[in-house]
Amino acid sequence: MSTTKISPEGKVALVSGANRGIGKAIAISFLEKGAKKVYAGARDVATLDGLLSRYPDRLVPTHLDVTDDSSIVKAAETARDVQILVNNAGVLQPGGFFSKDALDAFKIHLDVNVWGLLKLSHAFIEILKKNHPAAIINISSVAGLGNMPMIGSYSATKAAVHSITQGMRGELAPDNILVMGVYPGPIDTDMAKGIDLEKDSPENVASIIIQALKEGEEDVFPDPMSKQVGTGYMTNPKSIEKMFAEYRG
Ligand SMILES: NC(=O)c1ccc[n+]([C@@H]2O[C@H](COP(=O)([O-])OP(=O)(O)OC[C@H]3O[C@@H](n4cnc5c(N)ncnc54)[C@H](OP(=O)(O)O)[C@@H]3O)[C@@H](O)[C@H]2O)c1
Repeated sequence: MSTTKISPEGKVALVSGANRGIGKAIAISFLEKGAKKVYAGARDVATLDGLLSRYPDRLVPTHLDVTDDSSIVKAAETARDVQILVNNAGVLQPGGFFSKDALDAFKIHLDVNVWGLLKLSHAFIEILKKNHPAAIINISSVAGLGNMPMIGSYSATKAAVHSITQGMRGELAPDNILVMGVYPGPIDTDMAKGIDLEKDSPENVASIIIQALKEGEEDVFPDPMSKQVGTGYMTNPKSIEKMFAEYRG
């Protein structure tokens, strides 16, 4: 539990990958809970038209490709009032370390899920420090707590996000910045289309994140599967490794 607790009401947030899935649900929930402004990051800002017509005064469409340094720099030059940074953008290509094109897939996962998150956080850190109390929300995955061979390459990058989150938390402890790691299980978005497991809704993930922000929670397990994995990870990490090893696709 962090001593920094922060409600989205009256706050300014930036969400990467806000045009669909979990990112869109987070942007909507923040606005519904009274956020002053949400910078909605998207690679193609036209995909934000629906959201913009719903929240014309408080939603700011922001061109953001986390693999493109110039778009990150430009976003940070524009959004100087951000207090909550949501590192949500991510990609998933199925496959393990010996699948066809495994090395190319690993690079794509690294570029978006790891480097993208790190570069965006770097670009915004002085802004967050200045505007504290603040929060960085990193969307990892249950697959970051144990490797699933059917998405082995993706899992490894989500484990990196988990470690980065821990490191950021330690480093930023004196700065009144809540660093939250979110570890969802299967959520009903485009990313999980091909995954044949029971899925929770992106809206539920968003609402749990808001509650966690208010309570200063650092590790967030939003859905039934992630709650189970979270408990297993805290008590017996090897049991998670063994359970996930069965997910071979
Ligand atoms: N769905 C799940 O079961 C699940 C479970 C655990 C964790 N997660 C994590 O939750 C986050 C959101 O996933 P989701 O389920 O909402 O997936 P999604 O529906 O596929 O959405 C992914 C989002 O990331 C954006 N994105 C991809 N590459 C980007 C880049 N280079 N720069 C900026 N934005 C980029 C996409 O933008 P475009 O529309 O331009 O492609 C889209 O907005 C991801 O980090 C994912 O790993 C998801």
